[in-house]
Amino acid sequence: MQIDVFTLFPDAFAWFERQRHVVNAIALGHRLGYVNYRDHTPLSAGQVDDTPFGGGAGMVLRIDVVEAAMRARYGVDPVDLRAGRRVIALTPGGRLLDDEFVDELAAEDAVTLLSGRYEGFDQRILDHFVSDDVSIGRYVLAGGELAAMVVCDAVLRKLPGALGHDDSAHEESFSKALEGAPEYPHYTRPAEYRGWEVPPVLLSGHHARVRDWRLEQSRARAAQRTDSRSR
Ligand code: 6GU
Repeated sequence: MQIDVFTLFPDAFAWFERQRHVVNAIALGHRLGYVNYRDHTPLSAGQVDDTPFGGGAGMVLRIDVVEAAMRARYGVDPVDLRAGRRVIALTPGGRLLDDEFVDELAAEDAVTLLSGRYEGFDQRILDHFVSDDVSIGRYVLAGGELAAMVVCDAVLRKLPGALGHDDSAHEESFSKALEGAPEYPHYTRPAEYRGWEVPPVLLSGHHARVRDWRLEQSRARAAQRTDSRSR
């Protein structure tokens, strides 16, 4: 798949690009591209944002700047682009990213992520250029870059081969294999540490019993989450 990230801070992704699963995904032929709005602004002095009409704090990303950047990348009117590919705005009030949404995106051939800064996007960008908006949680980040990395991280690790071991993304927290529940606990050597022991079933070598125990643990954790939320 091809993921394009529109951002004012492409350098912020340098660390992310060095992560193993990202390196693997790129080696498998997937692509991560960046477009800096500032490189395409039709305005003087690299201007990309402006003060909000009606007053108020902060700056708003301009629609003419976003259109110019999208036209430069795709060579078409951005109004027509969203019919053929997911164009996703990163905004704190958007659709909450969860495992299901990540699976949906991982199944796409091409995804565009629009990162905002400051107070966010001119509403007309969302109304006319964007197919979806996504949020990584109900809190506000100063910019969309960290959220874009979260989306890319979660999506790229789902691609077959990206983790190096294809089962790792199958039976994990919130997956269908675990009925949407959080993952079971893991243990490794030493089998006993300061008197804290590993559950004996894991050392038993009985694969069926291990599987049952894990599913049971996973379900118990799901039940616990529900309890603590309703409290
Ligand atoms: Cl996608 N963007 C920003 N700026 N803040 C957020 C977010 C996104 N998701 C949660 N908070």
